[in-house]
Amino acid sequence: MADDVIGEIARPGAACGEVALGERGLTVPLGDGSTAYFNYYWLRDNCPTSFDRETRERVFDIFHEERAPVPASAHVDGDALEIVWQGDGHVTRHALDWLAHYAGGAPRPDPADLPRRPWYCDHYEHMARFPQPELMRDRALVAKWIEALLVDGVAIVTDMPDTDEGLTETARLIGQIRPTFFGTYFDVRTHIEPTNLAYTAKALELHTDTPAEDAAPGVQFLHCRANSVEGGRNLFLDGVAVANDLRAASPEDFALLSETLIPYYCEHDTYDMRSRQRVIELDSHGEVSGVTISQHMADIFDLPQTVLDSYYPAFCRFGRMLQSEKYVMRFGLRAGECIVFDNHRIVHGRAGYVAESGDRYLRGCYTDRGEMRSTYRTLTTQGRFR
Ligand SMILES: [Fe+2]
Repeated sequence: MADDVIGEIARPGAACGEVALGERGLTVPLGDGSTAYFNYYWLRDNCPTSFDRETRERVFDIFHEERAPVPASAHVDGDALEIVWQGDGHVTRHALDWLAHYAGGAPRPDPADLPRRPWYCDHYEHMARFPQPELMRDRALVAKWIEALLVDGVAIVTDMPDTDEGLTETARLIGQIRPTFFGTYFDVRTHIEPTNLAYTAKALELHTDTPAEDAAPGVQFLHCRANSVEGGRNLFLDGVAVANDLRAASPEDFALLSETLIPYYCEHDTYDMRSRQRVIELDSHGEVSGVTISQHMADIFDLPQTVLDSYYPAFCRFGRMLQSEKYVMRFGLRAGECIVFDNHRIVHGRAGYVAESGDRYLRGCYTDRGEMRSTYRTLTTQGRFR
């Protein structure tokens, strides 16, 4: 079939002009004066009959079609494009306003794709706070909470029950508890034979958690059950704010840190976890969406030594920026508070404390970023099938 055979097969009397059938796709008037091109495979694959109303899954299998889909005829019928396909004579109707959404090839709008708001050392007073009992009964408030996590990357839940279940039920508002190779939950307090700096009273360097996992957990919950020790102030900073500033100040360093994979490890008697990560993570828009940093879990950089001539100075410049007073928010988490944050964005640490001076106990767990976004979409929008 020749390209752009205008009107050859389109039926006369189309409401909004004529459909032009080409070799691989058709051009259809959308009713607002514009026309748009659509590929035949796409039109057939996304026929409304391709989706099961109950499971909401695609049940049409385009892999089983022996020939490329080609219309026998196509025309505009009222506010819809109607196609009769060659072969089985299947009829597809696509609403013109639905087609208009996909006409430009732009990504499907995502309500969870919110612009991030970088923050600095003075963020403590502005941090979003949500009382746990209200979150448990108000799904609209859960949406506000997740919105804060998407935009700021951090929020505090107050009035937490002083129980293990309190943390579980709070995290479950966002998603399933996501275990790591340390287990489902972790307890941060001084251990007799520590396998991790967090389990000592020493200062804990600024880091993101478990970078040695292929996909480190996305959302971290730290529930403070007791904190009466001297010292041990919490340190939190926004990795997006720091990386954005590095991008402006030193584009070459930014490129190295956002493109080069470096090794991370976590090794002890019964585990030997390894992964390769980029220190600066970009999203599909090219914007900084996170960082992966951990001095105590960075493996020996096994890159060509000449690459390290450039990489190390960039890495150290970024590491020094992370420690700058401009970015680091310092405060003492109080018993009954749970700080919730994006583990791929928010860098955290702790000042040393005097172990004998009182009790310090934090219980933690994780959920995933993707599930958090999923929960947010279901709370705020209708989706494709409702
Ligand atoms: Fe940590």
